[in-house]
Amino acid sequence: MNIVRKIGEFPRNPTIITGFVPTMGALHEGHLSLIRMSAKENDRTVVSIFVNPTQFGPNEDFSRYPRPFEEDCRLAFECGADLIFAPDAEDIYSTNPTTVSVPYVTDQFEGQRRPGHFQGVATIVTKLFNIVAPTNSYFGEKDLQQCALVKKLVDDLNLPTNIRICETVREPDGLAMSSRNRYLSSKDRELAPMIYQVLARSKDLLLNGEDIESTLDLQAKALSERGFRVDYLALVDRLTMHPTQSIIDNASLIIAAYLSNTRLIDNIRVVG
Ligand code: PAJ
Repeated sequence: MNIVRKIGEFPRNPTIITGFVPTMGALHEGHLSLIRMSAKENDRTVVSIFVNPTQFGPNEDFSRYPRPFEEDCRLAFECGADLIFAPDAEDIYSTNPTTVSVPYVTDQFEGQRRPGHFQGVATIVTKLFNIVAPTNSYFGEKDLQQCALVKKLVDDLNLPTNIRICETVREPDGLAMSSRNRYLSSKDRELAPMIYQVLARSKDLLLNGEDIESTLDLQAKALSERGFRVDYLALVDRLTMHPTQSIIDNASLIIAAYLSNTRLIDNIRVVG
């Protein structure tokens, strides 16, 4: 079992084609699909497990975020990981850390609702890229705005890694897998698949030429009537993460909605 905990002990090897899957642990099939993809496409796969404190807001779930470390290691190695990098926060952050911000793609949606979140993500991802030096790096489309951020980060700062985006893995009833699904009560868990049903229905309606604004209003209302608190349901250009008023290339529908205190996000491609 190859587990590295110190940045200084990370085995850099520029001659090996390295795939990298950054995670915060509590691994589920979504994460494992990224690890399997990396193992297929690279000579060596590195998985990082680090619950990154700087991407959590003061009222978010950092302290109660699940940390089943041994089980995570077992699953990651079983799926083809060769090395797990699990640093301590003290080794990662100095007292007055330099930060990285990615503008424009983070203006709205998660970036607006979760101040500081994307700066935390951009900073840790940049640091991990510099430590691991991966040839290819794997991210899930489940977190669509994070994908847009990482692509822009790598382009704008000329970071030498290829970004590979993998499709969202879902439960049989359509709910996107997430480490946070375990917070749902059994009643909320039964309701949760409606999020994906609404995305799929909205997509069909829009592709059939229905008006965008009124369709999204009606579909959001249907969720509210079932007990969801809808934060947003929007049609965006998934490269810029800004709303679009027409069905353009790269159009995706994105949603964030609360069931009780659990915030769920999901998205579906409309074009492309
Ligand atoms: P985490 O939430 O652990 O997710 C790690 C990776 O798994 C991300 O790329 C995420 O998009 C992907 N993922 C999560 N659920 C998925 C699903 N159902 N299907 C496919 N992929 C899925 O995202 C983070 O961690 C952090 O922000 C991180 C990038 C590690 C930086 O701290």
